[in-house]
Amino acid sequence: MSEERRFGPKGPAVRRTGQLALAALAVAGLAGAVLVACGGGSGGGGSAVALPPASAPAPAASSPAAVAASIPASTLSLAAQVGQKMFFDKNLSGSGAMSCASCHDPAHAYAPANDLSVQLGGVHMDKAGLRAVPSLRYKDITPAYADLLDNPDGISVPGPGGGFAWDGRADTLAAQARIPLLDPLEMANASSADVVKKLQAADYAPLIAKAFGEKVFDDSDAAFAKALQALQAYQLEDRSFHPYSSKFDLYAANKIGGNLTPAETRGLKVFTNPATGNCASCHYQGAGLNGSSALFTDFSYEAIGVPRNANIPANNDLKYFDMGVCGPLRTDHAPAAPNAANSFCGMFKAPTMRNVATRQAFFHNGVMHSLEQVIRFYNTRDTRPELWYPTVGGTPKEKNDADFPAYGLITTQYTGGKVKKFDDLPPAYVPNIDTQLPMDGRAAGSAPPMSEQDIADLICFLNTLSDADTKPATPVKPGACVN
Ligand code: HEC
Ligand code: HEC
Repeated sequence: MSEERRFGPKGPAVRRTGQLALAALAVAGLAGAVLVACGGGSGGGGSAVALPPASAPAPAASSPAAVAASIPASTLSLAAQVGQKMFFDKNLSGSGAMSCASCHDPAHAYAPANDLSVQLGGVHMDKAGLRAVPSLRYKDITPAYADLLDNPDGISVPGPGGGFAWDGRADTLAAQARIPLLDPLEMANASSADVVKKLQAADYAPLIAKAFGEKVFDDSDAAFAKALQALQAYQLEDRSFHPYSSKFDLYAANKIGGNLTPAETRGLKVFTNPATGNCASCHYQGAGLNGSSALFTDFSYEAIGVPRNANIPANNDLKYFDMGVCGPLRTDHAPAAPNAANSFCGMFKAPTMRNVATRQAFFHNGVMHSLEQVIRFYNTRDTRPELWYPTVGGTPKEKNDADFPAYGLITTQYTGGKVKKFDDLPPAYVPNIDTQLPMDGRAAGSAPPMSEQDIADLICFLNTLSDADTKPATPVKPGACVN
């Protein structure tokens, strides 16, 4: 990836509002300078009009209208400006009611505003999707998918990594944008030509022509490709997609406001400790690929056995399994025959932990709805599987024992029967399940790796990864993360 793409064309860490103010100053200053140059000259024209001294406030040219006219409308490239218009344009959907922002809401770190496991879309806005909607923040440095991607930690052996979507099937942000535009469950346009027709009729069509040339609409396929490039440019260039404004960023840069509390500091230790949380082994927090830092993902794929989500209509078909990298949405790593050995089945991307405390649906199928629940799943998937997976052949108890936890997905206690662990993966692929801590396959009934204190501290730490413009989905109790 080029330098320019890493930092965007405007260089690092300049806020847009600040930039506009600077531009205004520059224009005002320039106007003054021109006048001074004239006044200080030989007066060749013998003008009778006295020019103001250098120290006078800059006159007419700095009127608000004049300044506005001389400032570029946006700090984004023309292509990115087109992408910005498209991102919020509901006309670019079969329903006329859905834009990218409907699922990727800028006010929620570009994740959904609601807590649905999967969103509704389609021509009549009544079709449930197949997967939870990821945040679009911090995706700019994602490398393309490779079966053997180098791990940024410099220790782990290369493995499946990189790419966009939960299964890595799109290599670039541009390739990814095609998927929702044409997916009948999402924006549901009839074809790429259908999208291009809508763009041609859009009020920003002149901007498209300015960005990509007057002949841009002559070739529909080429125009669609440009439109996808525009969406990519917007996500790469606009700082709202990678603001780096969290408390953790202040901490990492040694800045004021970046002092972690004792609870947050302990939480960071749990996050990185290979004997307890071990989160960092996949949600890697160090220097990443392409000069990135602290993305809290190593872009890798693992099978961790997330329970099946009965709320996804596609799962009513008991033969349907979303197996991530091996399909069915992704088709280039499919098993040779049903249940034939295939190490990619069940693998999903380890997503970034940035803004994770603002999310309302977790994992690829959105089956969990709180950060605490996710962490408890990591802690007790193996030691108390009956809290996460269905029990078959047992008898439900009339009343749960007093000590039966309420935090699991299964809230009914059973006597007898057998827990159907890994119920969202065909048995042939259960050997693909990752065996790293905190889910090391330890025996049911044994002690879990993290203590109650560890869990509370970890939640405090994860809240430091939220950008300044976000709200936590579940606010931490006042004082809970202080000591
Ligand atoms: C109906 C909801 C919906 C709409 C509308 C939508 N998306 Fe998404 N988006 C998703 C879902 C679901 C995924 C995960 C897809 C998967 O894993 O197969 C996703 C994934 C992505 C990703 C990959 C993020 C990652 O973590 O790898 C990008 C980028 C993205 N969408 C951009 C867009 C753009 C650009 C648009 C508009 C053209 C858009 N989306 C419209 C639901 C939506
Ligand atoms: C072996 C690698 C691995 C380890 C270790 C690991 N994770 Fe994950 N994590 C993943 C993968 C893979 C996913 C996506 C799984 C899926 O959706 O099927 C995930 C998903 C998540 C999510 C859901 C995020 C979202 O956007 O939906 C959270 C939260 C999370 N992990 C937190 C943690 C924490 C906290 C720890 C440490 C206690 C941890 N993880 C340890 C690999 C790992």
